[in-house]
Amino acid sequence: MREKRLRTLLLMVALFALAVLALTACSPQEEQESPTPEEVDATAEEPEAEEPEAEEPEAEEPEAEEPEAEVSGLVGVVLPTREEPRWIQDEARFREAFAEAGVEVEILFSEGDSSRELTNVQNLITQGVEVIIITPHDATAAAAAAEAARDAGVKVISYDRLIRETDAVDYYVTFDSIAVGEAQAQYLVDQATGTDNPLYLYAGAASDNNAFLFFEGAWNVLQPKIADGTFYIVNSSEAVALQDKAELTREEMAQIIGQISTEWDFDTARSLAEAHLTAASAEDKGDVFILAPNDGTARAIADAFAADADVSSYVVTGQDAEVASVQYIIDGKQSMTVLKDVRTLVADAINAAVAFINGETPPQSTTYDNGAIEVPAQPSEVITVDQDNVQEAIIDSGYWPADEFTGLDE
Ligand code: BGC
Repeated sequence: MREKRLRTLLLMVALFALAVLALTACSPQEEQESPTPEEVDATAEEPEAEEPEAEEPEAEEPEAEEPEAEVSGLVGVVLPTREEPRWIQDEARFREAFAEAGVEVEILFSEGDSSRELTNVQNLITQGVEVIIITPHDATAAAAAAEAARDAGVKVISYDRLIRETDAVDYYVTFDSIAVGEAQAQYLVDQATGTDNPLYLYAGAASDNNAFLFFEGAWNVLQPKIADGTFYIVNSSEAVALQDKAELTREEMAQIIGQISTEWDFDTARSLAEAHLTAASAEDKGDVFILAPNDGTARAIADAFAADADVSSYVVTGQDAEVASVQYIIDGKQSMTVLKDVRTLVADAINAAVAFINGETPPQSTTYDNGAIEVPAQPSEVITVDQDNVQEAIIDSGYWPADEFTGLDE
């Protein structure tokens, strides 16, 4: 009897031990299966922050994906020109993101012509779009296109550039363009030492509202540094005449921009820079500082300055993180660019379009005065990129693939 009980007891102990073993063998397996690739990445980078990290991807998802499934409306996109890599990039990223969102899109280019822009908008209205996303070639001329859309009951989203002098704009998707100008100017200030540094100013096209915002941002940072003698302006008598004013009116900015406008055109930018260099004395050269409004014009202006024997060094700004300019930065031919992550802008535009189609209101943190109304907007942030962070900001972030560039590791 006793032996039998002992055997039963031993059997039970053995069974219990087996069960415990089986349970402990199971649980790590389960844990290994559950994390998503994102979670694994996140925990690999920041092991301590496991829990909050795991929640983050969830919070991001609804923004990008939630509304897609039920949306059936057609969206039209009108971009200004194929002449600049900036807008080709927007087109590619729009196509990809719209396809992912499962929303039908028609994308047309205005080729730098406001009447073509209007025809494009009319075509899209005929095709039955519910929302049109427009980057105006000319801010004021585009009012007619916006009004045609409004009259047809189509929502208008101004994309990157603001359409001016009309109330027919429902929303503005943009980066913080004043911050772009401030980032460019701050870079010049940070590179300058001593006083009496020659400063060359360039701007975008006066028909683009952004040219004013970029210049306003740059002036905010540069003007005090001109007033304290760090810089002196070489190439604009209008800017020199206004250099004691901390804040400029739109008309005053227009006077300066009229003298230093690149028209967003590479050839114009290069000829203007060459003309300024021809007019400048040798003392106005040496180590120079150049405010260039975007990447395309920066490369053209940089080439002109590099070719001048009296220029010993130059610091030149840019914006857009175009592939050619990222290469210029790696090669030391352009000093910086401002990364305006087009993926963010495209996602914001699609989310706003989907919100309108669903009868909702897109998110708003501020408004922009377009000369007629205050247009609701939620501007996105920008990042300064130079040789020091190009790998991290451009390659590691997945913005451009490493194989687009040479000399990255040197
Ligand atoms: C955009 C810039 C672009 C420029 C020239 C501006 O309105 O914000 O990104 O480089 O136009 O196309």
